[in-house]
Amino acid sequence: MKGGSSEASGSCKGRNSCSSTVMKGTDKCKIVENVMIAPDMYKMAFLSEHIAFNAHPGQFVHIKVPCDNSLLMRRPISIHDVHPQTGVVEIAYKVVGRGTRILSRMNAGQVIDVLGPLGQGFTISRGIKSAFVIGGGCGIAPLKFLARRLKEEGIAVTALLGFREREAVYGLSDFEEFSNRLLVTTDDGSLGRKGLVTQLLEEELKEQLPDVMFTCGPVPMLKVVQRLAREYSVPCQMSLEERMGCGIGGCLVCSCAIRTPNGDFEYKRVCKDGPVFWSREVMLDEATIEC
Ligand SMILES: Cc1cc2nc3c(=O)[nH]c(=O)nc-3n(C[C@H](O)[C@H](O)[C@H](O)COP(=O)(O)OP(=O)(O)OC[C@H]3O[C@@H](n4cnc5c(N)ncnc54)[C@H](O)[C@@H]3O)c2cc1C
Ligand code: FES
Repeated sequence: MKGGSSEASGSCKGRNSCSSTVMKGTDKCKIVENVMIAPDMYKMAFLSEHIAFNAHPGQFVHIKVPCDNSLLMRRPISIHDVHPQTGVVEIAYKVVGRGTRILSRMNAGQVIDVLGPLGQGFTISRGIKSAFVIGGGCGIAPLKFLARRLKEEGIAVTALLGFREREAVYGLSDFEEFSNRLLVTTDDGSLGRKGLVTQLLEEELKEQLPDVMFTCGPVPMLKVVQRLAREYSVPCQMSLEERMGCGIGGCLVCSCAIRTPNGDFEYKRVCKDGPVFWSREVMLDEATIEC
């Protein structure tokens, strides 16, 4: 069952004082950096020892948008990276609406109210030796933390990253550091190979099969990755995005259809049971939101 999330109005007394809806388990986190990394794409770093120590790749945080009376619902954003030694947590987000626009205008020293880490992240099984990490657009955001962790585990990473155009490219230096091979496509050919990242993926799969694939990006891209994973019999995990309400499993706003072993399907919650699912289980035709 899907539902729309309505946002009631609230009051806000000052820039850093939006505490009326603070939930148990949330952190008041000081922003240490908030910079534009591509047009409409920002990277924010904030301090949260709890999240930095406990997060797994693929999990997300739920952020209360400060100081807008009409935006009571938190915004889910993937964890881009963590630095447990310093307590710094990074997110990378695209400005698509009011909530993310307000976040993009916040400065170092200001405080945001963050709930997390939330959800089930990527599973890195024992014995994995090679992985393809496939990302498109702002869906690349959760894959940096994953690539770092894969490298720490001694797993050979091939990163395949797709962007619309050269101007939209971000994060390449991270993937140069954490992957063994970095392959980039742009739709217009202004950087890397011209075309879709899924075309490059198919060429790579014809050459070598990894033990596992991990992916996040727009639904049309996920559908092709899902088909290729099936055709080439490579296990694949994908991170889904859905409109969210509570972010902790209580409201069913984020339900998605998941195939059961007997060929039937059931609804699962992207926030609590996901956002990462095995691609063979995901029924993407039911998905509605594209990043
Ligand atoms: C688990 C999860 C992780 C996410 N991680 C990231 C991330 O790392 N970086 C990033 O840029 N975005 C991420 N998103 C998407 C992000 O949550 C939305 O872009 C954000 O909530 C939009 O808020 P807004 O107020 O700016 O836009 P709104 O005014 O609420 O909406 C503007 C547009 O964004 C779309 N949108 C709204 N909510 C979502 C959503 N939950 N998922 C996809 N599209 C949405 C709407 O359909 C609409 O077209 C993630 C979403 C989920 C569910
Ligand atoms: S957002 Fe409420 S159950 Fe997922």
